Amino acid sequence: MRNKISVIGAGNVGATTAHLIFQKGYADVVLLDIAEGIAKGKALDILESGPVQGSDAHIKGTADYRDTQGSSIVVITAGIPRKPGMSRDDLLITNMKIVGEVTAQVVKHSPEATLIVVSNPLDAMVHKAYEISGFSKNRVVGMAGILDTSRFKTFLATECNVSIDAISAYVLGGHGDAMIPVVGKTTIGGIPISKYITKKRIDEIVDRTRHGGAEIVGLLKTGSAYYAPSAAITQMVESILMDQKQ
Ligand code: LAC
Repeated sequence: MRNKISVIGAGNVGATTAHLIFQKGYADVVLLDIAEGIAKGKALDILESGPVQGSDAHIKGTADYRDTQGSSIVVITAGIPRKPGMSRDDLLITNMKIVGEVTAQVVKHSPEATLIVVSNPLDAMVHKAYEISGFSKNRVVGMAGILDTSRFKTFLATECNVSIDAISAYVLGGHGDAMIPVVGKTTIGGIPISKYITKKRIDEIVDRTRHGGAEIVGLLKTGSAYYAPSAAITQMVESILMDQKQ
């Protein structure tokens, strides 16, 4: 039997994540949204891509938390996204209420699940989910480090004109202005990044990484990033599901 992965929120992040997980084929997906038609429509659309993409997985759109029953992992994307000029923290009050209510429902139906929280402001929302769920801390995690690291690596690879595979880097800390791209441990083919580019350029890339989410919001105008966030969520799901110890 396949594992069940539930994704709460069928907006851009939720639906793209559901699609990516569905494509992998190793888990059945439940896509839940209070806007039932959106969840059902997107899930059906994704399901109909199965024969083309070779996925036998199942995906169901719903507004009913009973459908999430027994999920191994629940991804929480519910909440409103940023508009240009807003910081992630401006979403605090609205999304705290949403994430709190969602978590209570999720936990009721999937008491054994691991929660991956994506809603912003991320660090505060993870804590809210941790509080409401009563789960142990290793079963309530936030998606941020992989996304921020991926942005950092992208900018470095472009700057140095090297393959992304050659870059070893980590961005740690919170998902906001205080995130820490660990420059001292960043290497290309094992060689410190400082041998490749000037301190000034490194500082600029660090700054661009810290504001990577806002850069996308500024361009989109109507929402925030979702392709890279969804890829990052999918890697976390896979790592947890397959116990890859990443
Ligand atoms: C970002 C949002 C997802 O960093 O926080 O793009």
